[in-house]
Amino acid sequence: MSYELHKGNAFNLLEGYPENRFHAVVTDPPYGVVEFETANVEKMRDGEGGVWRIPPELDGNKRKPLPRFTVLSEDDKEKLRKFFRTFGESVERVLRPGGHIFVATTQLLMHEVSRQLDEAGLERRDVLVREAKTLRGGDRPKGAHEEYSMVSSMPRVYWEPWLLYRKPLKGRLQDSLEEWETGGLRRESEARPFTDLLGNGKTPKEETEIVREAHPDDGDEARAHPNLKPQRLMRELCHASLPLGEGTILDPFIGSGSTVAAAEAVGYDAVGMEIDATFREMAEEAVPRLAEVETEMEKREDVGSPGEKESSLSDFS
Ligand SMILES: C[S@@+](CC[C@H](N)C(=O)[O-])C[C@H]1O[C@@H](n2cnc3c(N)ncnc32)[C@H](O)[C@@H]1O
Repeated sequence: MSYELHKGNAFNLLEGYPENRFHAVVTDPPYGVVEFETANVEKMRDGEGGVWRIPPELDGNKRKPLPRFTVLSEDDKEKLRKFFRTFGESVERVLRPGGHIFVATTQLLMHEVSRQLDEAGLERRDVLVREAKTLRGGDRPKGAHEEYSMVSSMPRVYWEPWLLYRKPLKGRLQDSLEEWETGGLRRESEARPFTDLLGNGKTPKEETEIVREAHPDDGDEARAHPNLKPQRLMRELCHASLPLGEGTILDPFIGSGSTVAAAEAVGYDAVGMEIDATFREMAEEAVPRLAEVETEMEKREDVGSPGEKESSLSDFS
């Protein structure tokens, strides 16, 4: 297994890759695009906010910044459409026929992202549901809490959508598996397919700590990458993405590198890209350490084996 981390704009970097280079894409892109533009990232790092909401401390604990997607303007949305159209077209070119694409998104913007991927010629296959209890939504009306104490403006968000797309197959599934090593999803074991309900919960403290320590200034919580995904989730997705257990995964938006670390941990090759110099530097240090973390997947000897066990990795306990 090997991995490469590249610094720069993924869309420019991808132009340097040949067609059909990658077997799968697993990525957590900037959901609303504007929140990771330099000016907003600097505001987030300085604790000023901008499109990021810096939540107040809770019981003396600092909480990570959250982007506010309800404040996107029509111009912001147009930018988002262009970004995901370019993303769709770029991955359509570099992916092998039958290659899968896993894209994290948010309830408020998933329809916009999905439309761009459809128009780029990719095939929608499912929406994966990751159970992830957040502190988003569920607020009473601003300035009228007491008057409307039984009202919330939106539901509290308890799940995260992941769009699942595929580059159209050439021929039958078995032809694609034989010629391209793509087209299907790897089962957890012979007894159990990969499921679209992912019960993975929060990113463990051990993992956020690794990323915090990787910050060049050994910064506080607010300076760590605000969107670190848990290794358990990312390993489950990476494992499923290569049906024959071989090939290279692309993540064009690595942040602090959780996809690349997960690919390394499950024994796949990976190529990661990141536009922000600080995040890229953090990923360099964090990837090997995140790849060493032990998760449920390694504790379960039946994963990746013929195994008889019927309960899935994602079953809620
Ligand atoms: C949601 S974060 C990824 C977080 C990652 N899953 C993790 O666990 O740390 C998205 C990342 O995409 C990066 N990004 C945004 N636009 C980009 C582009 N055009 N090319 C490469 N990276 C980009 C941002 O700097 C940000 O770090």
